[in-house]
Amino acid sequence: MRHLIDPLDLNESEMQDLLELASRIREDPAAYQEVAAHKKLATLFYEPSTRTRLSFEAAMLNLGGHVLGFPSDNVSSASKGESVADTIRVVSCYADIAAMRHPKEGAPLRASQYSRIPVINAGDGGHQHPTQTFTDLLTILTRHGRLDNLTIGLCGDLKFGRTVHSLIKTMARRKNIKFILISPDELRVPDYIIKDVLVANNIPFEETASLEDAMPQLDILYMTRVQKERFFNEEDYVRLKNSYILTKEKMEAARPDMAVLHPLPRVNEIALDVDDDPRAAYFEQAQNGVYVRMALIMMLLGLTDPKTGKEVSLC
Ligand code: NCD
Repeated sequence: MRHLIDPLDLNESEMQDLLELASRIREDPAAYQEVAAHKKLATLFYEPSTRTRLSFEAAMLNLGGHVLGFPSDNVSSASKGESVADTIRVVSCYADIAAMRHPKEGAPLRASQYSRIPVINAGDGGHQHPTQTFTDLLTILTRHGRLDNLTIGLCGDLKFGRTVHSLIKTMARRKNIKFILISPDELRVPDYIIKDVLVANNIPFEETASLEDAMPQLDILYMTRVQKERFFNEEDYVRLKNSYILTKEKMEAARPDMAVLHPLPRVNEIALDVDDDPRAAYFEQAQNGVYVRMALIMMLLGLTDPKTGKEVSLC
């Protein structure tokens, strides 16, 4: 049995299989509407979510399966003091697969150690968010037709943004990638990622505070929200929350084929008038999240792809 805790839990060929399956599903979703019949997905969400939880649930329903779970810790036995280890032992009796979001880094990993069903990390604190990264990859592949030879700008809260950490880790495995890390000094990418991922693998990167300077070089601009819930004091959040606002005017300096991604939710870091720009890819990205999660559920459950007649097992 396999879990998905870190984006690198899938090797490169598994990642490619996942993206190919997600693309096949996107072309003909109706062909997949029975493949997970009678299977159950549990969504165990100890932190707020709209897209991730609903896209997991939509993914399982689209595959003909069922969903059960809880949307916040205060309606589960976590509020009575139950550990994630005990919760997952019990959920293993009720469901075939689980997606867990938790404010504590490492909670889904701990759950996986006690689980009898595959556990998917749906975001753990300021650490990792692998399924968002797969969604990002499918969107990049769709927009650019490749995952290599790209200059990727990441902008905003690079310190607490778990989507940023997972995307850097994953894209660092590709060929000829350059990162431009755009943030205020206080919200820089954590040192462990700079050292263990970028420096250790000789990946070119620049750190800058200027979105305007970076803009003309970028193939991808990955905007992020300042992660209010991870700040220790309100004052710092208020000071930093408006550090970057992407506007129509700033888009003029960008390449004609640059793609703007954002994991969403957006607060005010992308002005509404950017939405009509054909380079804005964030709503298409949210849609891709459903196909990628359908593919992932199929692979972790070892289901059969009706298009190829083959099992898509990860084991
Ligand atoms: C992100 C998250 O939860 O980390 N949202 C998401 O899953 N699409 C980004 C965020 O909350 O800013």
